Amino acid sequence: MNSNNTNSGRRQFLVSATVAMGAAGVTAIATPLVSSMLPSAKTKSAGAPVEVDISSLEPGMMITQEWRGQPIWIVYRTTQMMEQLSKNTQFLADPDSNSSEQPAYCKNTSRSMSSHPEILVVVGICTHLGCSPVSKTKVGAADGMSSDWPGGFFCPCHGSKYDMSARVFKAVPAPFNMRIPPYKYLANKKILIGDDQGEA
Ligand code: FES
Repeated sequence: MNSNNTNSGRRQFLVSATVAMGAAGVTAIATPLVSSMLPSAKTKSAGAPVEVDISSLEPGMMITQEWRGQPIWIVYRTTQMMEQLSKNTQFLADPDSNSSEQPAYCKNTSRSMSSHPEILVVVGICTHLGCSPVSKTKVGAADGMSSDWPGGFFCPCHGSKYDMSARVFKAVPAPFNMRIPPYKYLANKKILIGDDQGEA
């Protein structure tokens, strides 16, 4: 891991990755608030795709959207975060996501669609026993991690660690990278989670 990439001036994440499901079943934790189109309770229970407006999402921010009862993180990674990804390889358990679950179009270093590589869409659930990791996006010890921490996500239940592509590090309990759901981009800076038909 490289501890020399701390960018103290970069925008910090404005939200916690911890999900607290509200009564409405949707949590959009971001400042400014990123709105989303909320499906009816009936369609949600049926597992219908969920449309999310990311027009207010900026580098260094993330939002959380519920889909099929799961927290879906949508993370807009900074340039520094993207540059760090290739430096993490030797420390990761499955750097190429060969054993992890994602659509074919996200089986790459950024684990995202090539049209929007900086946007990570991921199921925010630890692959060990299902806890919700928290964001630890600052490089180094500033976020309470070790001095060589490259930025990523940390599961407080048993200590699993993931990088900014939600790829799991070696020597932690979690066996796989966090799961990437099917999704596609719509017009007007919207993402449809749960449906990738027509994805180019
Ligand atoms: S549930 Fe995340 S480390 Fe155990």
